[in-house]
Amino acid sequence: MNLAVLASGYGSNLQAIIDAVDRGEISGRVKTVISDVEEAYALERARRHNIEAIYINPKDFPGRKAFNEAIAALLEEREIDLVVLAGYMRLLSPVIINKFRGKIMNIHPSLLPAFPGLEGAKQALDYGVKVSGCTVHFVDEGLDTGPVILQEAVPVYDDDTVESLHERIHRVEHRLYPRAIQLFIEGKLSIEGRRCYRNEG
Ligand code: GRF
Repeated sequence: MNLAVLASGYGSNLQAIIDAVDRGEISGRVKTVISDVEEAYALERARRHNIEAIYINPKDFPGRKAFNEAIAALLEEREIDLVVLAGYMRLLSPVIINKFRGKIMNIHPSLLPAFPGLEGAKQALDYGVKVSGCTVHFVDEGLDTGPVILQEAVPVYDDDTVESLHERIHRVEHRLYPRAIQLFIEGKLSIEGRRCYRNEG
């Protein structure tokens, strides 16, 4: 299976996915990494692993739709089977979602539906919850609203900062995302309405 990873930043989840591919825990390959940020370290990670790294500048397009059409074209040209959002900081347009429905995943640093959108770890701290975590979900038109694939909780401690909590969440993300991707590749995920079921066997 051909994976495309979309990332806007540091790319530690991308790295976890690349490492899982290298260890044989993901039976697919990262065919391309696409970023809307030229200096995203995720692109550098891709280059270091001889993975195609594409920077696509939103300002080169007349609007959001045209920008997303260009990304959709890149994905189709490369015969991508699964689109993996890993710290991609833009909402996808329907033009991508419709072409890849049920084939786009995102990871979010909270237990959805709590704290969607930006800064999930900060929102959790500000609210004062004692437990947070991360969520891998399929992507639909909403903001962090698609069917949940996997979730895992982490504790929130009294002396946590945004950084320490995000770091704890990140460590879980790096384990959870490759697992979700492999479940997809093995055909073990099915979506019915809001629910994503795991079929074993
Ligand atoms: C992760 O915390 C993820 O949940 C969120 O963005 C962050 C990306 O981190 N969507 P990285 O770029 O993979 O290190």
